[in-house]
Amino acid sequence: MEKPGKPSSVSHAIMSELVLPNDTNGLGNLMGGRLLHWMDICASISSQRHAGCVCVTASVDRVEFHSPILQSEIVTIRSQVNRAFRTSMEIEIVVDAENPRTGNKRRCNHAFYTFVAIGQDGSPTPVPALIPETDDEKERYEKADRRRQFRLFMSGRLDPDGVQDMQEFLLSIKDAQSF
Ligand SMILES: CC(C)(COP(=O)(O)OP(=O)(O)OC[C@H]1O[C@@H](n2cnc3c(N)ncnc32)[C@H](O)[C@@H]1OP(=O)(O)O)[C@@H](O)C(=O)NCCC(=O)NCCS
Repeated sequence: MEKPGKPSSVSHAIMSELVLPNDTNGLGNLMGGRLLHWMDICASISSQRHAGCVCVTASVDRVEFHSPILQSEIVTIRSQVNRAFRTSMEIEIVVDAENPRTGNKRRCNHAFYTFVAIGQDGSPTPVPALIPETDDEKERYEKADRRRQFRLFMSGRLDPDGVQDMQEFLLSIKDAQSF
């Protein structure tokens, strides 16, 4: 039986971390791998709030580290499910760093993760549809389909012969990367 849809807001997750010495590299900046770990946890919470079961990371789209995050800064990670497909979900994550002395905040990272819901038998299981409510959620929902096609194309799961106009396809992907 098909599961009832869930609003995007159910999947929203926010977590904050303080950058401690053990989280840093030789320059005293947050290690990239530690940040990816925190992002994975936040995305996992979003996926499980939506799916209502254990979910695993299937893929992570390109992540760029534009701005170093310093020791003693506060890192805040926000995530939400943009769209649910059959057993997979696109999760969008944004990362902000905050200087606790000045209160200044800056956007440091942004990424899309794909999680897959796993059923009792250990194999992928269908997830509820996602119901976007706000204009922002509706835009993210629309663009998620193009991004999914691109990641399936890049992972070899989408046959390039099935893409009629490659230039149009790539341009639409570029548009879908904006946030
Ligand atoms: C992710 C995983 C469950 C997919 O299993 P599978 O046998 O390929 O299952 P399916 O072919 O039925 O695909 C399941 C879903 O995953 C999606 N998927 C699989 N690989 C993907 C990829 N590289 N990028 C995006 N989505 C992917 C499929 O599109 C499908 O989505 P849909 O049902 O919404 O259409 C499996 O590869 C796995 O268990 N990987 C390890 C996960 C893990 O341990 N993560 C932590 C890293 S240590």
